[in-house]
Amino acid sequence: MTKAVVLGAAGGIGQPLALLLKCNPLIKELSLFDIVNTPGVAADLSHISTPAKVEGFLPPDDGLKKALTGADIVVIPAGVPRKPGWCGVRWHIDCLPIVKCRDDLFKINAGIVRDLATGIATVAPKAFVLVISNPVNSTVPIVAEVFKKHGVFDPKRLFGVTTLDVVRASTFVAEILGDLSLAPSISVPVVGGHSGVTIVPLLSQSSHSLPKDFSESSLDTLTKRVQFGGDEVVKAKDGAGSATLSMAYAGAEFATKVIKAVNGEAGIVAPSFVNLAADKDGGDALKKEIGKNLDYFSTLVELGPEGVAKIRTLGKLTSFEEGLVQAALPELETSINKGVSFIETPK
Ligand code: NAI
Repeated sequence: MTKAVVLGAAGGIGQPLALLLKCNPLIKELSLFDIVNTPGVAADLSHISTPAKVEGFLPPDDGLKKALTGADIVVIPAGVPRKPGWCGVRWHIDCLPIVKCRDDLFKINAGIVRDLATGIATVAPKAFVLVISNPVNSTVPIVAEVFKKHGVFDPKRLFGVTTLDVVRASTFVAEILGDLSLAPSISVPVVGGHSGVTIVPLLSQSSHSLPKDFSESSLDTLTKRVQFGGDEVVKAKDGAGSATLSMAYAGAEFATKVIKAVNGEAGIVAPSFVNLAADKDGGDALKKEIGKNLDYFSTLVELGPEGVAKIRTLGKLTSFEEGLVQAALPELETSINKGVSFIETPK
């Protein structure tokens, strides 16, 4: 595995993500595609003294095709981020120029992801595809449906990047334990999906236990902080976008895990939003466990040379966590269906 491609590489996530990938010694070639600014970003990164050769492409002259040719792994942060008012109860007038509402954001990002997926299906159908563009619960099914239409869908190679939820959960637990130096070694499985109540942190399975006197209401508060952590950033940025730097870190972390597993490193396990057909036995067991026949779910995935090697079930849950999983299912199902039908009946 040598060539990585970032689609949406000039954006708030794309640029720091490209920087982190450029610093990854496992990557020998890094192609950056966006509708703006990639030549500049590529020129800038190309001066960094690491092995990866960097090139930037724009849409003219078959830029997407050139960027994707020979791709081993494609990361997609292209799209429009949410703004204050997009996710909340009220809509603020000062956000009007970009995105009016949740549905507008869906349509814009769905169209962008569909078109980029078409490019991947045509030029690099064997590449591992990591989808960051929101809403991940819908954009991953969109990529899958496009690949199916082109007869190249391999569920083992498609991932929704939910790593930011995992990164946040680890950080917040470290904060509660009063020692941020623990954060890199804390692992908390986060399952379900990648928006609001579909994000289910399994804090009872944290590698580092919460304090013995941690109350139920504190657990509820911590769970909500993981589920709606993105809102903290959107609010603090006050109109200037959503999480970009932490997302770039999370995206690079997950990409590195996939690359290492594909290169033969054993024992790599990470949560990701995947098509449950990627491992039929594991997927069926998971569906039975959650009591719902969903095609996609985020869960711990064992990674291997072909991508998804094994889908893990959720394991022992507390009754609080069982409630969270059940609460996630209706929204998850709606979002998945919305993605699938966007391709079946393109708008
Ligand atoms: P941004 O607006 O800063 O960057 C998006 C980039 O995509 C821009 O450079 C834009 O030119 C580019 N773009 C637009 N249409 C394109 C096309 N057809 N082909 C190639 N590039 C195209 O947005 P930001 O903050 O980087 O967010 C990007 C996406 O990531 C959004 O959908 C956002 O909601 C999502 N996101 C996902 C997270 C996750 O945990 N999975 C966390 C945070 C954001």
